[in-house]
Amino acid sequence: MRKNSNACYYSDYLQLSKLLDAQAMESEKQGAPAHDEMLFIITHQAYELWFKQLLFELKSVMALFAEAVLDDNALATVVHRLKRFTAIQKLINEQISVLETMSPQEFLEFRDYLVPASGFQSVQFKELEIRLGLRRGQRTAADQAFFYSRLNDQDRAYLQAIEQQDSLSCQLQRWLSRLPLLAFDGFAFWSHYQRGAKAMLDSDEAIIRATFEGDELAQQLSELNGTRQRFMALFDEKHYQKLLAQGQLRFSHDALMSALFINLYRDEPLFQLPFQLLTTLMEIDEQFTAWRYRHVLMVQRMLGSKIGTGGSSGSDYLRRNTEANRLFGDLYAISTYLLPKHALPALPEAVKKRLGFSLSGE
Ligand code: HEM
Repeated sequence: MRKNSNACYYSDYLQLSKLLDAQAMESEKQGAPAHDEMLFIITHQAYELWFKQLLFELKSVMALFAEAVLDDNALATVVHRLKRFTAIQKLINEQISVLETMSPQEFLEFRDYLVPASGFQSVQFKELEIRLGLRRGQRTAADQAFFYSRLNDQDRAYLQAIEQQDSLSCQLQRWLSRLPLLAFDGFAFWSHYQRGAKAMLDSDEAIIRATFEGDELAQQLSELNGTRQRFMALFDEKHYQKLLAQGQLRFSHDALMSALFINLYRDEPLFQLPFQLLTTLMEIDEQFTAWRYRHVLMVQRMLGSKIGTGGSSGSDYLRRNTEANRLFGDLYAISTYLLPKHALPALPEAVKKRLGFSLSGE
């Protein structure tokens, strides 16, 4: 033992007396201790601690995006921290299996003591959703109704203020739109791309016509027509606005086109970091969605068709949110617009040089 009384000491540094004294079982207070309530509390607390770390990483990334210039070093830091974000998500998704060692009957021993408290009131979870880019209009009607009604005034005001601020999705779109990927002097990339897309779709149509007949042929052609329409929207402002209004896309046109360009030329050393950024954001979306599915299945296992302590229909409500609350659906939509590598022209040296300067913020 060191003699210096000011020396750092493990339990003081981690404030363990506070942390380990924060598990008060409601069932014990009511005089009917339920063994599994301890696991329930600690699992939720562990989640909230990790949510705190996720917000810490996210806010630091957003501060970098808020700078006038996002140079290569800053972009590398952004990607590094967002990868950490996904590593934490994978870890917390696994925590559900620990909580599932509690049986539905064991849960019933203390569940009623918790009403009306609910995951609805996890302010950090909601803050993560909002800061990443989920907006109110995107939520299901039930989610919109519950979102604020289950919170106290202070929490509601806190989240409402965050909704007024830029989200990571807004920042990303602004950054993508700033990249000079939509027009190049002397390199007619987008008309080349349009021709390539038409050739690909015509070849798909020829294969369909040669393979199917009758109703099946009509069905396949109608689906192909839907894909043609989505391609057309890239080059037709009115059509694009229609997809935005229908909620099929959310990114601005310029942002989507830049993200597409990065995907098409992702093997260029120049686009390595931007491509990793876009892929990591998709991974974040995927991990959130995986958590929602895991949570729904756990809720179904615990409650069957009972309602939640917060008053929703329970697993039905949560299942509907799972698809509605996707964060970066536009990045997934890009796969629709990809062309095979051989259909793309090589980037001219002058274009590479110019992009190199722009991407590194000069
Ligand atoms: C026995 C385990 C659990 C059950 C039965 C359960 C049940 C529910 C139910 C029914 C809802 C819908 C709201 C309501 O009516 O109350 C809900 C929402 C929620 N739960 Fe859980 N939950 C459990 C564990 C967890 C854990 C470990 C977390 C981790 C933080 C969590 C986080 C949330 C969140 C964030 C919401 C809001 C989701 C949204 O509105 O989209 N839950 N939970």
